Amino acid sequence: MTAADRWNAEQGTGADPVCASRDADASMTAAERWDAKYADWHEPSPASDFITGQAKLLADCPTAVDLAGGAGGTALWLAEQGIDTALVDVSDRALAIARNAAAQRGVPLHTIFADLEADPLPSPAQLARLAALAVPDDGWHAAVCTNFLHRPLLGALREFLVPGGIAFVLIATVENLLVNARPGRPYLVEPGELPELCAGLEPISFEEGWFGQRHEARLVAHRALTVQASGSALPERSHRPHARC
Ligand SMILES: C[S@@+](CC[C@H](N)C(=O)[O-])C[C@H]1O[C@@H](n2cnc3c(N)ncnc32)[C@H](O)[C@@H]1O
Repeated sequence: MTAADRWNAEQGTGADPVCASRDADASMTAAERWDAKYADWHEPSPASDFITGQAKLLADCPTAVDLAGGAGGTALWLAEQGIDTALVDVSDRALAIARNAAAQRGVPLHTIFADLEADPLPSPAQLARLAALAVPDDGWHAAVCTNFLHRPLLGALREFLVPGGIAFVLIATVENLLVNARPGRPYLVEPGELPELCAGLEPISFEEGWFGQRHEARLVAHRALTVQASGSALPERSHRPHARC
Protein backbone atom coordinates (compact mmCIF):
# COMPACT_ATOMS: atom_id res chain seq x y z
CA MET A 1 0.00 0.00 0.00
CA THR A 2 1.49 3.36 -0.98
CA ALA A 3 1.52 6.35 1.36
CA ALA A 4 -1.32 7.92 -0.62
CA ASP A 5 -3.41 4.72 -0.49
CA ARG A 6 -2.81 4.54 3.21
CA TRP A 7 -4.04 8.04 3.90
CA ASN A 8 -7.13 7.33 1.81
CA ALA A 9 -7.90 4.15 3.70
CA GLU A 10 -7.36 5.64 7.12
CA GLN A 11 -9.13 8.92 6.55
CA GLY A 12 -11.84 7.66 4.25
CA THR A 13 -11.46 10.67 2.00
CA GLY A 14 -11.68 8.59 -1.14
CA ALA A 15 -9.17 11.05 -2.45
CA ASP A 16 -5.48 11.63 -2.57
CA PRO A 17 -4.43 12.87 0.86
CA VAL A 18 -1.08 14.33 0.01
CA CYS A 19 -0.48 17.48 2.01
CA ALA A 20 -4.06 17.30 3.27
CA SER A 21 -2.87 18.22 6.73
CA ARG A 22 -2.05 21.72 5.62
CA ASP A 23 -5.82 22.22 5.23
CA ALA A 24 -6.36 21.29 8.86
CA ASP A 25 -6.60 23.53 11.93
CA ALA A 26 -4.55 26.60 11.11
CA SER A 27 -3.77 27.19 14.78
CA MET A 28 -1.63 24.06 14.87
CA THR A 29 1.98 24.05 13.78
CA ALA A 30 3.02 21.88 10.85
CA ALA A 31 4.75 19.58 13.32
CA GLU A 32 1.60 19.19 15.42
CA ARG A 33 -0.61 18.60 12.39
CA TRP A 34 1.67 15.99 10.90
CA ASP A 35 2.36 14.26 14.20
CA ALA A 36 -1.41 13.86 14.51
CA LYS A 37 -1.60 12.44 10.99
CA TYR A 38 1.10 9.91 11.78
CA ALA A 39 -0.34 8.99 15.20
CA ASP A 40 -1.79 5.69 13.96
CA TRP A 41 1.14 4.78 11.75
CA HIS A 42 3.53 2.14 13.01
CA GLU A 43 5.59 1.37 9.96
CA PRO A 44 6.74 3.15 6.81
CA SER A 45 4.92 2.80 3.52
CA PRO A 46 6.75 1.19 0.62
CA ALA A 47 9.30 3.31 -1.18
CA SER A 48 8.09 5.54 -4.00
CA ASP A 49 8.08 3.61 -7.28
CA PHE A 50 9.36 6.77 -8.94
CA ILE A 51 12.50 6.57 -6.82
CA THR A 52 13.01 2.80 -6.97
CA GLY A 53 12.75 3.16 -10.75
CA GLN A 54 15.82 5.41 -10.66
CA ALA A 55 18.11 2.76 -9.18
CA LYS A 56 20.60 3.05 -12.04
CA LEU A 57 21.17 6.79 -11.53
CA LEU A 58 21.14 6.43 -7.76
CA ALA A 59 23.81 3.74 -7.87
CA ASP A 60 26.27 6.54 -8.58
CA CYS A 61 25.20 8.61 -5.57
CA PRO A 62 27.07 7.92 -2.31
CA THR A 63 24.85 10.23 -0.25
CA ALA A 64 21.17 11.22 -0.40
CA VAL A 65 18.68 13.36 1.45
CA ASP A 66 14.92 12.75 1.41
CA LEU A 67 13.26 16.11 2.07
CA ALA A 68 9.90 15.88 3.84
CA GLY A 69 10.31 12.15 3.52
CA GLY A 70 7.68 11.27 6.13
CA ALA A 71 7.91 7.87 7.82
CA GLY A 72 10.87 6.98 5.68
CA GLY A 73 9.72 4.34 3.20
CA THR A 74 11.80 5.85 0.42
CA ALA A 75 14.70 6.87 2.66
CA LEU A 76 14.98 3.33 4.00
CA TRP A 77 15.05 1.94 0.49
CA LEU A 78 17.85 4.38 -0.37
CA ALA A 79 19.77 3.33 2.74
CA GLU A 80 19.26 -0.32 1.81
CA GLN A 81 20.97 0.41 -1.52
CA GLY A 82 24.10 1.34 0.43
CA ILE A 83 23.53 5.08 0.09
CA ASP A 84 24.39 7.18 3.15
CA THR A 85 20.88 8.60 3.61
CA ALA A 86 19.40 11.42 5.64
CA LEU A 87 15.64 11.78 6.17
CA VAL A 88 14.35 15.27 6.92
CA ASP A 89 10.85 15.93 8.20
CA VAL A 90 8.92 18.21 10.54
CA SER A 91 7.12 15.29 12.22
CA ASP A 92 8.96 13.71 15.12
CA ARG A 93 6.41 10.91 15.02
CA ALA A 94 7.24 10.12 11.38
CA LEU A 95 10.97 10.23 12.10
CA ALA A 96 10.55 7.86 15.05
CA ILE A 97 8.70 5.36 12.83
CA ALA A 98 11.54 5.55 10.32
CA ARG A 99 14.21 5.12 13.01
CA ASN A 100 12.45 2.06 14.46
CA ALA A 101 12.16 0.49 11.03
CA ALA A 102 15.82 1.22 10.29
CA ALA A 103 16.87 -0.42 13.55
CA GLN A 104 14.70 -3.47 12.84
CA ARG A 105 16.14 -3.82 9.34
CA GLY A 106 19.67 -3.11 10.49
CA VAL A 107 20.22 -0.26 8.04
CA PRO A 108 21.84 3.04 8.95
CA LEU A 109 19.56 6.07 8.56
CA HIS A 110 20.09 9.64 9.72
CA THR A 111 16.92 11.43 10.77
CA ILE A 112 16.76 15.21 10.94
CA PHE A 113 13.92 17.20 12.47
CA ALA A 114 13.61 20.46 10.53
CA ASP A 115 11.02 22.86 9.18
CA LEU A 116 11.47 23.00 5.42
CA GLU A 117 9.04 25.91 5.17
CA ALA A 118 11.09 28.09 7.47
CA ASP A 119 12.25 31.46 6.18
CA PRO A 120 15.15 31.36 5.58
CA LEU A 121 15.28 27.69 4.65
CA PRO A 122 17.78 25.57 6.55
CA SER A 123 21.00 25.16 4.59
CA PRO A 124 22.47 21.71 3.85
CA ALA A 125 25.26 22.49 6.30
CA GLN A 126 22.72 23.34 9.04
CA LEU A 127 20.78 20.13 8.37
CA ALA A 128 23.96 18.09 8.43
CA ARG A 129 24.99 19.67 11.72
CA LEU A 130 21.61 18.82 13.27
CA ALA A 131 22.34 15.16 12.65
CA ALA A 132 26.09 15.39 13.28
CA LEU A 133 26.57 14.19 9.72
CA ALA A 134 29.79 14.10 7.80
CA VAL A 135 28.04 15.39 4.69
CA PRO A 136 30.07 17.89 2.72
CA ASP A 137 28.93 21.42 3.42
CA ASP A 138 28.06 21.78 -0.24
CA GLY A 139 25.30 19.19 -0.14
CA TRP A 140 24.25 15.68 -1.03
CA HIS A 141 24.72 13.65 -4.21
CA ALA A 142 20.98 13.01 -4.48
CA ALA A 143 18.04 15.03 -3.17
CA VAL A 144 14.57 13.49 -3.13
CA CYS A 145 11.35 15.43 -2.67
CA THR A 146 8.07 13.60 -3.24
CA ASN A 147 4.56 14.77 -2.44
CA PHE A 148 5.66 17.92 -0.66
CA LEU A 149 5.24 21.23 -2.45
CA HIS A 150 6.88 24.28 -1.00
CA ARG A 151 7.94 26.31 -3.99
CA PRO A 152 10.85 28.12 -2.28
CA LEU A 153 12.31 24.75 -1.31
CA LEU A 154 12.20 23.52 -4.90
CA GLY A 155 13.77 26.80 -5.97
CA ALA A 156 16.62 26.13 -3.53
CA LEU A 157 17.07 22.43 -4.33
CA ARG A 158 20.26 23.19 -6.22
CA GLU A 159 21.81 24.31 -2.94
CA PHE A 160 21.18 20.87 -1.44
CA LEU A 161 23.26 19.20 -4.15
CA VAL A 162 26.95 18.88 -4.82
CA PRO A 163 27.93 19.87 -8.36
CA GLY A 164 26.79 16.96 -10.53
CA GLY A 165 24.24 15.88 -7.89
CA ILE A 166 20.76 14.80 -8.93
CA ALA A 167 17.31 15.90 -7.73
CA PHE A 168 14.30 13.57 -7.93
CA VAL A 169 11.02 15.44 -7.53
CA LEU A 170 7.45 14.17 -7.73
CA ILE A 171 4.44 16.44 -7.21
CA ALA A 172 0.81 15.89 -8.19
CA THR A 173 -0.54 18.33 -10.76
CA VAL A 174 -3.78 20.31 -10.94
CA GLU A 175 -5.09 17.66 -13.37
CA ASN A 176 -5.22 15.37 -10.36
CA LEU A 177 -8.28 17.30 -9.14
CA LEU A 178 -10.29 15.71 -11.95
CA VAL A 179 -10.20 12.45 -9.99
CA ASN A 180 -8.99 13.27 -6.49
CA ALA A 181 -10.25 16.06 -4.22
CA ARG A 182 -6.94 16.16 -2.36
CA PRO A 183 -4.38 17.51 -2.25
CA GLY A 184 -5.99 20.90 -2.76
CA ARG A 185 -4.91 23.25 -5.48
CA PRO A 186 -2.26 25.11 -3.40
CA TYR A 187 -0.31 21.88 -3.16
CA LEU A 188 -0.40 21.01 -6.85
CA VAL A 189 1.83 22.16 -9.68
CA GLU A 190 0.51 23.63 -12.91
CA PRO A 191 1.20 21.82 -16.18
CA GLY A 192 4.86 22.21 -17.09
CA GLU A 193 5.63 24.17 -13.92
CA LEU A 194 7.89 21.72 -12.08
CA PRO A 195 11.09 22.13 -14.14
CA GLU A 196 10.73 25.91 -13.89
CA LEU A 197 10.44 25.71 -10.11
CA CYS A 198 13.70 23.80 -9.81
CA ALA A 199 15.81 26.75 -10.82
CA GLY A 200 19.41 26.10 -11.79
CA LEU A 201 18.92 22.38 -12.36
CA GLU A 202 19.18 20.78 -15.77
CA PRO A 203 16.46 18.23 -16.55
CA ILE A 204 17.54 14.66 -17.24
CA SER A 205 13.95 13.50 -17.62
CA PHE A 206 10.53 15.04 -17.10
CA GLU A 207 7.23 13.20 -17.25
CA GLU A 208 3.73 14.47 -16.61
CA GLY A 209 0.72 12.23 -16.74
CA TRP A 210 -1.46 9.66 -15.01
CA PHE A 211 0.41 7.19 -12.85
CA GLY A 212 -2.35 4.88 -11.68
CA GLN A 213 -5.04 7.10 -10.20
CA ARG A 214 -2.82 10.14 -9.72
CA HIS A 215 -1.76 12.80 -12.19
CA GLU A 216 1.83 13.64 -11.37
CA ALA A 217 4.83 15.62 -12.53
CA ARG A 218 8.05 13.66 -12.17
CA LEU A 219 11.36 15.41 -12.67
CA VAL A 220 14.91 14.12 -12.57
CA ALA A 221 17.39 16.98 -12.89
CA HIS A 222 21.00 17.55 -12.10
CA ARG A 223 23.19 20.37 -10.92
CA ALA A 224 25.77 20.99 -13.57
CA LEU A 225 29.39 20.36 -12.73
CA THR A 226 31.35 23.56 -12.31
CA VAL A 227 33.34 24.17 -15.46
CA GLN A 228 36.73 25.81 -15.22
CA ALA A 229 37.95 28.43 -17.67
CA SER A 230 39.87 25.66 -19.41
CA GLY A 231 36.56 23.92 -20.10
CA SER A 232 37.30 20.92 -17.89
CA ALA A 233 35.00 19.97 -15.01
CA LEU A 234 36.28 20.54 -11.49
CA PRO A 235 37.26 17.38 -9.62
CA GLU A 236 34.42 15.73 -7.76
CA ARG A 237 34.35 15.10 -4.02
CA SER A 238 32.64 11.75 -3.75
CA HIS A 239 33.52 8.99 -1.32
CA ARG A 240 33.57 6.36 -4.04
CA PRO A 241 33.83 6.38 -7.82
CA HIS A 242 30.68 7.53 -9.58
CA ALA A 243 29.74 8.69 -13.01
CA ARG A 244 27.45 11.64 -12.64
CA CYS A 245 26.86 12.63 -9.03
C1 LIG B 1 2.24 13.92 2.00
S1 LIG B 1 3.57 13.61 3.05
C2 LIG B 1 4.78 13.00 1.91
C3 LIG B 1 5.76 12.09 2.58
C4 LIG B 1 6.73 11.41 1.60
N1 LIG B 1 7.59 12.38 0.95
C5 LIG B 1 5.96 10.62 0.59
O1 LIG B 1 6.01 10.93 -0.61
O2 LIG B 1 5.30 9.65 0.98
C6 LIG B 1 4.20 15.22 3.38
C7 LIG B 1 5.34 15.22 4.38
O3 LIG B 1 5.80 16.53 4.55
C8 LIG B 1 6.13 16.73 5.90
N2 LIG B 1 6.08 18.16 6.15
C9 LIG B 1 4.98 18.97 6.16
N3 LIG B 1 5.33 20.23 6.42
C10 LIG B 1 6.68 20.23 6.58
C11 LIG B 1 7.64 21.22 6.88
N4 LIG B 1 7.26 22.49 7.06
N5 LIG B 1 8.94 20.87 6.98
C12 LIG B 1 9.33 19.58 6.81
N6 LIG B 1 8.47 18.59 6.52
C13 LIG B 1 7.15 18.91 6.41
C14 LIG B 1 5.07 15.96 6.66
O4 LIG B 1 5.43 15.64 7.97
C15 LIG B 1 4.92 14.73 5.78
O5 LIG B 1 5.78 13.71 6.20
